[in-house]
Amino acid sequence: MRSYSLIAPAKINLYLEIIGVRPDGYHELAMILQSIGLADQIDVHSISTDSIRVHCNHPQVPTDKSNLAYRAAELMAMQFPEAFAQYGGVEISINKQIPVAAGLAGGSTNAAAVLVGIDLLWKLGLTQPELEELGRTLGSDVPFCVAGGTAIATGRGDQLSPLPSLDNIYIVLGKYRSLEVSTPWAYKTYRQQFGDSYRDSNNLAARANAVHSGAIVKAVLDKDAGEIAQKLHNDLERVVLPAYPQVLQLREVFANQEGVLGTMMSGSGPTVFALFESQQQAELVLLQVREAIIDEDLELFVTRIITHGIKVVSSV
Ligand code: C5P
Repeated sequence: MRSYSLIAPAKINLYLEIIGVRPDGYHELAMILQSIGLADQIDVHSISTDSIRVHCNHPQVPTDKSNLAYRAAELMAMQFPEAFAQYGGVEISINKQIPVAAGLAGGSTNAAAVLVGIDLLWKLGLTQPELEELGRTLGSDVPFCVAGGTAIATGRGDQLSPLPSLDNIYIVLGKYRSLEVSTPWAYKTYRQQFGDSYRDSNNLAARANAVHSGAIVKAVLDKDAGEIAQKLHNDLERVVLPAYPQVLQLREVFANQEGVLGTMMSGSGPTVFALFESQQQAELVLLQVREAIIDEDLELFVTRIITHGIKVVSSV
């Protein structure tokens, strides 16, 4: 095969707790990550030159080395020089549907798709743990994006414990097109404001492990959408919501709609999501939010929880 098309789903954080600062300067996290139906399509194609080329339909997405998908291809070429020499370069086309810099792991899921696609193109036969290991060097969310579904993520967010799949939970996402939140800024500001409450480095792993027996994990194991929605949590809201009043307002508008089980910001934001028991309720609330906030800059999506990460949809 000379070409693969892959679906690269976005994620939301059902839970994000910042436990402390790690010796490597990153934060020790305890999260529950969840794949959602909103996805990009990534096409990877072998080309006869030895170059890596990236195209994207979205004008804001860079196509050079600052794109994580480019860096994923470069990493594969470095790790597997013989395959790179044998199969030649790679052309990557990104059909972007996931909002950019939104707290939805859009860049990370594109990188994960490139790892999976090149593994197939070059017939490397890498295992899921091997792909996750490669992903870890690109970014904290990349390992999760490979297999996706529902998982507890600790460490930098790259230590994964899969949870049983959830199903039948519908989502409305809201994101202001022109609003981007820098993830490094969000973590740095959190550290400046709340670093005093961090646990000492001896207790980091113990606290991260405690999440495994926490209330939201129990709700996920019970597949209890109402209870999951009650236990949604994101520490980064403490710095992002005061700095971005529009995001706070959007969250409040969601919280006041009938049928919303719960609402929360995803990752470092600025996307806000709300959970629903039915698609009909989700679609109705989307319309109500659109009426409540008259602003063309506000993008709203209806999607649902899904049980997978990167998926091959076709090959030629
Ligand atoms: O790993 P990734 O490149 O996605 O992280 C982006 C930024 O988010 C890091 O540079 C860091 O500022 C912050 N971060 C952190 N602790 C984590 C994950 C991310 O401080 N566990």
